[in-house]
Amino acid sequence: MTNQTKMQVIASVKDAIAFSQIAPRAVPRRILMCHPTYFEVKDAKNEFMSGNIGGVDKAKALTQWNDLKSTFEKCGFPVELIEPGAELEDMVFTANQVLPAIDDHGKPLVVLGRMTYESRTHEVPHFEKWFRGQGYSVLQLPAECTRFEGGGDGVWHPDRELLWLGFGSRTEESCCDAIAKLLQVPVVKLKLISQKFYHLDTAFAVLNADSVMIYPPAFEQAGLSLIRNYFRNVIEVSESDANNFACNALALDRYVVLQKGSEATCGDLCRLGFVPVEVDTSEFMKSGGSVFCMKQMVY
Ligand code: ARG
Repeated sequence: MTNQTKMQVIASVKDAIAFSQIAPRAVPRRILMCHPTYFEVKDAKNEFMSGNIGGVDKAKALTQWNDLKSTFEKCGFPVELIEPGAELEDMVFTANQVLPAIDDHGKPLVVLGRMTYESRTHEVPHFEKWFRGQGYSVLQLPAECTRFEGGGDGVWHPDRELLWLGFGSRTEESCCDAIAKLLQVPVVKLKLISQKFYHLDTAFAVLNADSVMIYPPAFEQAGLSLIRNYFRNVIEVSESDANNFACNALALDRYVVLQKGSEATCGDLCRLGFVPVEVDTSEFMKSGGSVFCMKQMVY
């Protein structure tokens, strides 16, 4: 890879770099979760939350979280835990606070998030401490990037040093360029155009190097063309399955863990040879999150 392609921002198919020019990437095989001790819906940070303030059934949430944890373990991925910070009601969504990465020498690092909502900014130092304890180097975005929501908007191509970055809702556009430079990787920028699908991971789930699942109305035409350029198999999820967080799925090898009840999507997954594993995250959906949001992949 040349130094130029290494930090290229890809905004349309004409800028696309071939996979053959993009370095391979080691796939993380551990999962980081946070116990839902303080989980609640206290305010409406996204459309799913309005109407659900104070409405979480805590006992049910705990059962669902435990089931999700054991599902990940049964799929062959050990789960690590980060201690929940007192009263940090959204910390259970461990996808958002940082973006883990790995450098050319195989050293793990994290880019710290800059959370949109004040209440969530207090989560980031807990993650910084946890990752330092695991031997990660910690990187900061330049000051002008005031909003970046980690692995909620930044999704790695499964086996390549290529980052898919959603912006326009939580994460700011300026992060695309800044992350490409900071991590020395090409970044595909995807503008999120729907108010409801506020994080990339609510409308885009990578399944393997060739396959992805998307909710098309969340993206502009340029983004859709880029997605079709890089993935041979594109599952288009219906509005009802997208509202049921079908795109907030997590692919673990051939298993795809997702919220139960998205029948058409499960059928499409089976046709591509995946094994859908349905779980119930209904209490967490009240806060606008499901499977993918409740984990961080770690080295
Ligand atoms: N209530 C949280 C928020 O609005 C939910 C975050 C869900 N995470 C995700 N990666 N989509 O910030």
